[in-house]
Amino acid sequence: MHIGTTLTNYIIETQRSLPEATGEFTGLLNDISVACKRISDLVNKGDLVGMLGSADSENVQGETQKKLDVVTNEVFIEALTQNGHIAGLVSEEMDDIYPLPNPSRRGRYLLLCDPLDGSSNIDVNVSVGTIFSIVRAPEGKEKPSTEDFLQHGTEQVAAGYCLYGPSTILVLAVKGQGVQMFTLNRDFGEFILTRKDVQIPEETKEFAINVSNQRHWEEPVRRYIDECLQGKEGPRGKDFNMRWVASMVAEVHRILCRGGIFMYPLDAKIKAKGQSGRLRLMYEANPMSLIVEQAGGAATTGRQRILELDPSEIHERAPVVLGSRAEVDVVTRYHNEG
Ligand code: F6P
Ligand code: MN
Repeated sequence: MHIGTTLTNYIIETQRSLPEATGEFTGLLNDISVACKRISDLVNKGDLVGMLGSADSENVQGETQKKLDVVTNEVFIEALTQNGHIAGLVSEEMDDIYPLPNPSRRGRYLLLCDPLDGSSNIDVNVSVGTIFSIVRAPEGKEKPSTEDFLQHGTEQVAAGYCLYGPSTILVLAVKGQGVQMFTLNRDFGEFILTRKDVQIPEETKEFAINVSNQRHWEEPVRRYIDECLQGKEGPRGKDFNMRWVASMVAEVHRILCRGGIFMYPLDAKIKAKGQSGRLRLMYEANPMSLIVEQAGGAATTGRQRILELDPSEIHERAPVVLGSRAEVDVVTRYHNEG
């Protein structure tokens, strides 16, 4: 595939290499790209179309506003449930699974998504994104159950995200086929392949963590960040830089482009809430981990590989440490030594 080709061309070409290809996978990725283009348009127009602010408030025309994460969820439902490519949907915005009502319109895949990640950034015009994960639906079942969605991250057929930043960029990792970046050309509404077989630099000097949680961190995280902050004079022997966008999609995208490590570790505050992490496993940690691993990076909870976690709930949370392999290895070693 050459730089400049369209996402549609890339998907059709990729589908040829999948076993029992029927065109459904192409159709599904096409549905996702349509949803992402619509969300891109809404995010881009922002206040002009009354999309910002909280649900049930009024916009300048006195109309009731819908918060963008409600609307983007509806965009996903509309784009994904009409064409017979999936058997069911899980979204951050819905408590339960959404099995498809019409059996004759059901497809062979299940989609798990976070339609608008980092949505606290939307009102201040900072990058947000969409994250998605695709797994196979069980065959021959009347309709999918919650358990059918609870597959290991290693079972993902494909994962991706769309970043709504200065450019809209869709990043796709089809299992075993590397990581490709497509930039939306708004003039003719197509995603164009702009970076092929992206590889994360193994070494990095940039970390991303919400330092306001420092007092709650576990010892291995404290140690790692403390050593980074000591810079050239410390045990790491190099000066580090820090970034925190508070949009995981933007964070992962920066790491794919120039390396780095991103962490949302387990801490005392999270534990006190009875939670197992901050980010969601099925539609944040798993898809991002597949992308990062296929780009040559690593993704762990600090203790074990994220893609091998055994999920028990669709909205469960997991600690996340991902990015340049050498740094993730250091953090994981510190946890497992302790
Ligand atoms: O969905 C969770 C999320 O918005 C991520 O995109 C982001 O990395 C994180 O939360 C930001 O967390 P905090 O509010 O602690 O900065
Ligand atoms: Mn999110």
